[in-house]
Amino acid sequence: MNSIRIQGRIALQGKVRIQGSKNASLPVLAATLLTRGCSCIRNCPRISDVHSMVSLLKSLGCSVHWQEKGLAVDSSQVRRGEMPQEAVTGMRSSLCLLGALLGRCREVVMEHPGGCVIGERPIDLHLSALRQMGVVFTEREGRLMAKASGLHGARICLPFPSVGATENIILAGVMADGDTIIEGAACEPEVISLCQYLCCCGAFIEGEGSSRLVIHGGKKLCGTDFTIPADRIVAGTYLFGCIGAGGCVLLEQAPGRDMTAVLRAAEQMGGRIYSSQEGIYVQAPARPVPMRLVTEPYPGFPTDLQSVALAVETLGCGCSRIEEEIFENRFRIVGELEKMGAEIRQENAKSVLVRGVEQLHGTHVEAKELRGGAALVVAGLMAEGETVVSGCPYIYRGYENICRDFRELGARVVSV
Ligand code: UD1
Repeated sequence: MNSIRIQGRIALQGKVRIQGSKNASLPVLAATLLTRGCSCIRNCPRISDVHSMVSLLKSLGCSVHWQEKGLAVDSSQVRRGEMPQEAVTGMRSSLCLLGALLGRCREVVMEHPGGCVIGERPIDLHLSALRQMGVVFTEREGRLMAKASGLHGARICLPFPSVGATENIILAGVMADGDTIIEGAACEPEVISLCQYLCCCGAFIEGEGSSRLVIHGGKKLCGTDFTIPADRIVAGTYLFGCIGAGGCVLLEQAPGRDMTAVLRAAEQMGGRIYSSQEGIYVQAPARPVPMRLVTEPYPGFPTDLQSVALAVETLGCGCSRIEEEIFENRFRIVGELEKMGAEIRQENAKSVLVRGVEQLHGTHVEAKELRGGAALVVAGLMAEGETVVSGCPYIYRGYENICRDFRELGARVVSV
């Protein structure tokens, strides 16, 4: 199932349930390593990144099973802190195993993590923070060796609120001696989920959701039942899908409270939005209103929805400027959208100008990374005729079943 075929120009109608969050479930799964018992992680999405994390946990000695109520992880037996090469290089989020394994085994051997092809994605902030906590890093034959015989708390000032670095510090911090204080921590809802899971297991963390976190280390953690919240990025993808393709939809269980900047952008595009406990209701405008959009750390507009917003503005009734402030190289879909008739001018590495056209036309385009791939599916929904998106394994890393979900909304989308 390498490609997705889309028959465009069908307005979306109906409702769809939003899957559990990828970016919340991966660090929570890594955190199970810190407990000496069983956890049941409910609402974990069945996506390829989660399957890779499950394989990694198994290779480390955990017993992991999909059950009807959720993913059961028993971490009473963790054999060693060495991760298999292929699993680690394929998925950057496996980097959060670094903090978790240091907490559990005090020793880690791993490859340099990979991930989406969206820029260099260095890990200097992770390494420098962990060094301050007593971790010693060496490199041998391209592998990263980390040792922390005396893992201790520290006061760490992050120069940028990196999500992954914040998560790694938390994971190591709950097992360290003494308190760890993070100044300039990431405030993303997924960081809050990680703290909540750890606190349910017996950890003591203060300041969740703020940029100053205090982690009181050295507590013994037991397993727990935890429910992963709905995925705000998947919800945002379908929301912008509706704004681009037209129609009105209900995104059941979409976490509106965590999507303030996204809902504001959707309203600026002319969408009518109503958010409640039930989810988010969206009514599309006749044509998207152009806007200036800048990606920022949470609570700003998320970089993971930049490409889909860009795709929508290709049909805007005027010029939009999209600025990417988080990752370099996140405009890789521009060439693909141009094949569909979009008019986009890259001003510099961080900014593009989109001149809305009357119509996109379907053609063959290629997904080159996860979120850009999903944005091409949305562009296909907006385009006249048939679009084929290849490279879809990228999309399956984060979307359980994007074709089924859009079909529930009346679209003609199949994986081939
Ligand atoms: C996480 C998300 C990803 C999202 C991103 C930003 C997961 C699994 N992934 O990625 O979907 O797009 O947050 O919201 O949760 N940086 C450094 N040095 C470091 C670490 C990061 O320079 O040591 C830079 C990165 O290159 C990037 C920026 O900081 O430019 C943001 O990265 P970060 O917040 O760490 O993102 P991830 O945790 O990788």
